[in-house]
Amino acid sequence: RRRLMEPVLLIGPASQPMRERLAGSFHLLDWSNCSDRDALMASHAADIRYVVTNGHDGVPAPVMAALGNLRMISCNGVGYDAIDIATALERRILVTHTPGVLSGEVATTAIMLVLACLRNLVIDDAYLRSGRWARDGNPPLSRSVDGRRVGILGLGRIGRATAERLLAFECKIAYHSPQARDVPYRHYQDLVEMAHAVEILICTVPGGPATHHLINRDVLDALGSDGTLINVSRGSVVDEPALVAALSEGRLGRAGLDVFASEPNVPQPLLDMPNVVLLPHVGSATVETRARMDDLTVDNLIAFATRGEVLTPVPECSG
Ligand code: 8YV
Repeated sequence: RRRLMEPVLLIGPASQPMRERLAGSFHLLDWSNCSDRDALMASHAADIRYVVTNGHDGVPAPVMAALGNLRMISCNGVGYDAIDIATALERRILVTHTPGVLSGEVATTAIMLVLACLRNLVIDDAYLRSGRWARDGNPPLSRSVDGRRVGILGLGRIGRATAERLLAFECKIAYHSPQARDVPYRHYQDLVEMAHAVEILICTVPGGPATHHLINRDVLDALGSDGTLINVSRGSVVDEPALVAALSEGRLGRAGLDVFASEPNVPQPLLDMPNVVLLPHVGSATVETRARMDDLTVDNLIAFATRGEVLTPVPECSG
């Protein structure tokens, strides 16, 4: 039998219900709210076998290095690019994440950004509130989403859920991924070629070195002056200065962004542009979806601590 109330290092924010669930089975050590981290490490580093973190905070390198007996990292989020997987594999540390339970929600966020960008949701709301409707009459016409040609970068769980939602708007779906998949959508081997062919490009690929700056100047220029870029994946996928330049020079039509290169910092030029819709990384941030993510995060940890197995390992750790 495993020792009861083993320590768990919690990195980053966590909901009250998740804290309570963790505290019911473990001795919870709160890294992010700790006033004396040196003392915490001095007393507990050798005993800590489990870390709970999220896709944003990951596990800082010095923490990873200090936890010599770390066995498992449970990431509250599907993206785990903030976790050093190579080191984890080398040290035989198992990493889990929360795929599946948030796919629909993030897809809905992508749709929300598409609609907001093309139908002027934010602009028209501001127009009414500022009194301009009464003063100046009706605002300029917006653009229809119906029947648009949409390209999806990465057709994993979130990409597929996004495509399914877009079918309700009779959009024509294409996708770019290294391999063609068994789906009724057009596959493009070449991202620039797809960007030429579509009107809206939606990023749903994971972050990390393999997808770093996939959306560069060439892709943005191919999307063009009436094109729309939507990003609900990771800021690292987009060359942000190239995006700012394309938008400000009118080479790209509009953008809907939930993620940024250096969160929570958003480049000032984007804040000043009327043709962008900006969200503070809320793709999965609903009460319902976050509760499912929290549960899966804790379930993975408890399964590992009690039975030595997990529910949803990251692909590198599966098997
Ligand atoms: C979370 C996410 O915001 O799942 C992801 O990869 O980006 C989001 O759901 C992130 O894990 C931080 O909590």
